[in-house]
Amino acid sequence: MRSLSGVKPTGSLHIGNYFGAIKQFIKLQNKYEGFYFVADYHSLNTGIEPKTLQKASLEIISNYLALGLDPDKSTIFLQSQVPEVAELTLLLGNITPMGLLQRAHSYKDKIAKDIQPNHGLFSYPLLMASDILLYDSDLVPVGRDQKQHLEITRDIAIKFNNTYNQKVFKIPEPLILDNLAVVKGTDGRKMSKSYGNVIEIFAPKKKLKKQVMGIITDSIPLEQPKDPDKCNVFSIYKLFSSKEEQEKMRSNYLGGNYGYGHAKLALYNKILAYFERCRIKKQKLEANPQYVKEVLEIGSSKARNIAIKKISKVKKVMGLIGNIY
Ligand code: ADP
Ligand code: TRP
Repeated sequence: MRSLSGVKPTGSLHIGNYFGAIKQFIKLQNKYEGFYFVADYHSLNTGIEPKTLQKASLEIISNYLALGLDPDKSTIFLQSQVPEVAELTLLLGNITPMGLLQRAHSYKDKIAKDIQPNHGLFSYPLLMASDILLYDSDLVPVGRDQKQHLEITRDIAIKFNNTYNQKVFKIPEPLILDNLAVVKGTDGRKMSKSYGNVIEIFAPKKKLKKQVMGIITDSIPLEQPKDPDKCNVFSIYKLFSSKEEQEKMRSNYLGGNYGYGHAKLALYNKILAYFERCRIKKQKLEANPQYVKEVLEIGSSKARNIAIKKISKVKKVMGLIGNIY
């Protein structure tokens, strides 16, 4: 059984990426054959600067390793190193109704924000479907914001299989944690690289502290009791702490004489402790960029071999003379 997922290299990884997705990648790698990639083609629709894209792509690969993805267990690769995914996108485009893409929330949200859409943005869910279907993925661990993209992927796979009356594509299942809402950013919206409201996993300590201290709260004075369930500092603290620690923080809130600054400091220390080993590993990886490149080369070549076979099958089914490999 295969598990597959990806992250866009549009900025540094944040704790929403971790709890929503990457933590599950790491857990699953003992049970599933993991395929985890950096979705660099996907980033292009934002008009990202080439140097930034290159740097962020390598950084995310090295962050995957620092956080615990094991290249002996999982295939770690770069989306654009497997150009067959672009060909599959072209092929699947011919059975994908326009309406399916027009209804995508991510697209509609961008339009609502007056972002001038390019075709890459519009067809984003189609490229994502190709990422998933190309590797016969069974399970796709993602955050809740990706739910609709998985539904679109399933619709496309079913439509293709029905159109050509063959079970060419597996119908993938999403893995979205029931008990995890979308992690909120420092401004209370969904934490996202594109909103500038993140708490980065690997930010230097000073920057991390600034991000945590920047979480927006109400202005109830220090002496007065506060409601932990209405506070974003507490909701983030819960991700990092045991039940007992949460109860202690809860009674601090309710007891008064406990300010948001105290809670933020406690959160900052928790985040540092939680990722301490990963930070050390990241430093070691930074000292050995050759190793990161080797992991990428091996992973991308493995992924490409699978992709070449699959695309050849898809072309044949569609009536293209595809058997030249
Ligand atoms: P971003 O929105 O920061 O650009 P991505 O779109 O690259 O993040 O998301 C990578 C993975 O992390 C996806 O599976 C996504 O669902 C998950 N993810 C992103 N932001 C959050 C969040 N705030 N809470 C939970 N999961 C998230
Ligand atoms: N669209 C995902 C996001 O914005 C990233 C992604 C691209 C992805 N291709 C994928 C996730 C395939 C899972 C499977 O977060």
